Amino acid sequence: MDFEKELAEEVSYCTQTVERYLPGAYKDAESPRRKTIEEAMEYSVMGGGKRLRPMFIHQGAKMYGAAPSLYEPFMAALEMIHSYSLVHDDLPAMDNDRYRRGRLTTWAVYGDGMAVLAGDALLNFAYETAMKALDAPEAADPQVSRRICRALRVLAGNAGIYGMVGGQCADVEAEKKNLDIDEDMLLYIHRNKTAALIDSGLRIGGILGGAPEEDDARMHRIAQAIGVAFQIQDDILDVTGTSKELGKTAGKDAAEGKKTYVSLHGLQTSKEKVRELTDGALHDFDSLSQKNDFLRHLLMALVTRTR
Ligand code: IPE
Ligand code: IPE
Ligand code: MG
Ligand code: MG
Ligand code: MG
Repeated sequence: MDFEKELAEEVSYCTQTVERYLPGAYKDAESPRRKTIEEAMEYSVMGGGKRLRPMFIHQGAKMYGAAPSLYEPFMAALEMIHSYSLVHDDLPAMDNDRYRRGRLTTWAVYGDGMAVLAGDALLNFAYETAMKALDAPEAADPQVSRRICRALRVLAGNAGIYGMVGGQCADVEAEKKNLDIDEDMLLYIHRNKTAALIDSGLRIGGILGGAPEEDDARMHRIAQAIGVAFQIQDDILDVTGTSKELGKTAGKDAAEGKKTYVSLHGLQTSKEKVRELTDGALHDFDSLSQKNDFLRHLLMALVTRTR
């Protein structure tokens, strides 16, 4: 397997899939009136990004044999939710970041108000998009439509207060009130703000393909470990990376006095933790009923990622 080549093909497939479902693809007489919001939505989603979450859905779907008409709407939906989370995360009222994916953030181009709305619009449009799976001919089979509903529940649950929003709330509160958070609280934040959307990525393809319950439960555990490792690595890169490499302002966490895994334990322990969590996840991955060498390699490669 040529991992780098396959990765590049996957990124481009994910990007095209998301683009196909953006509102710009549907034109009607009133489109000109929605020009600014549609542009802001497109700006937020397109233009870079590793596309990990839709890639996870695609790879999970391949493992368990789901049809593209079912998983492609979910790939687009999850990347819309992820992008919305970044648009709001970057707002002046939150992390106040001007750069993301190597260019100005949505609020820095369109203003705060339009960035709030672009985020709201992307979140809603994500559900409008995911529900298109119900229009697929395969969904006429009640067993398949039940799987779609289950995938919708995972998508929505992981995005809300029991997932990403819940984690972001605890993160914002800890930072704004300068709370003295312990490791337990930090892991709660990481599991929710970051691992939850990764959980949607790693599970939805399998759910749509009818993966056995034990595999779904195992994927959930894998996502928890990989998600927490991913956020610790993000915190490491904030210290060790350059703005050019990251496409976002480096050194931001320390400058804001943010409590991260790195500020609590130092770089060395953080790196060891990323490796330990990833090793555990790979061990679990190997006991799934299906194999996927590319996905295994991808999960492993996240440990040494530089952006
Ligand atoms: C950034 O996610 C936010 C975190 C959860 C750390 P990514 O690092 O996946 O962002 P993009 O999509 O590649 O820009
Ligand atoms: C944000 O974590 C994770 C989200 C849910 C958006 P960070 O605030 O550390 O993400 P970056 O560094 O801005 O990408
Ligand atoms: Mg943040
Ligand atoms: Mg941020
Ligand atoms: Mg960060």
